[in-house]
Amino acid sequence: MDPRRTAPSTARNREPILAVLQRALPARALVLEVAAGAGEHAVFFAHAMPGWTWTASDPDPDACASIAAWAGAAPLPNLAPPRAIDAAAPAWGVEDETLFDALVCINMIHIAPWEATLGLMAGAERILRSGGVLYTYGAYKRGGRHTAPSNETFDVWLKQRDPRFGVRDIEAVEKAACARGLTLEEIVDMPANNLSLVFRRN
Ligand SMILES: C[S@@+](CC[C@H](N)C(=O)[O-])C[C@H]1O[C@@H](n2cnc3c(N)ncnc32)[C@H](O)[C@@H]1O
Repeated sequence: MDPRRTAPSTARNREPILAVLQRALPARALVLEVAAGAGEHAVFFAHAMPGWTWTASDPDPDACASIAAWAGAAPLPNLAPPRAIDAAAPAWGVEDETLFDALVCINMIHIAPWEATLGLMAGAERILRSGGVLYTYGAYKRGGRHTAPSNETFDVWLKQRDPRFGVRDIEAVEKAACARGLTLEEIVDMPANNLSLVFRRN
């Protein structure tokens, strides 16, 4: 059986996400992606930017198998083997390696318990070099309000799936980031009422 998974949203969001990353990251960068899911973003970004050395991770073994299978189907010298990383864990197993220039997290914050966001920020503090970038993408509330009716519907669906999930307030995410030495530098409107948040490690 082919372990490669596919997420239809990736084809729609990968170009706009790449455009933000190209502005926010240096042309040569060591990047860790958490919650990489199927792995299609990782392959697309690593192919588009040969100067980025990309490691994709996910705590789900099936996701890691999918990432490895996509990488195997289109081998790229700058795409490392996948890692099993739970953002909420107190250590990710990469802390003893070189510091990273960027940490990328697409579509996790709303679809994981809040502890995963707190862990993401703590991990960013541990693994990013000073001046490094934390990039997050997804649906967010602003000032406690949904930015679109579709996000409100999505929030209800998320909470039905797991009451610990939900569309988060940007302000809460920013507060968690600030507590870990990160500054919210940019908010970018993205397709389908999503936002990109670009944080920089102090
Ligand atoms: C909606 S998928 C997004 C996958 C991919 N980034 C994308 O945009 O297609 C959410 C992913 O978050 C991962 N995830 C959930 N909890 C996590 C955690 N605590 N740490 C890291 N990843 C987590 C899941 O395994 C899943 O692959």
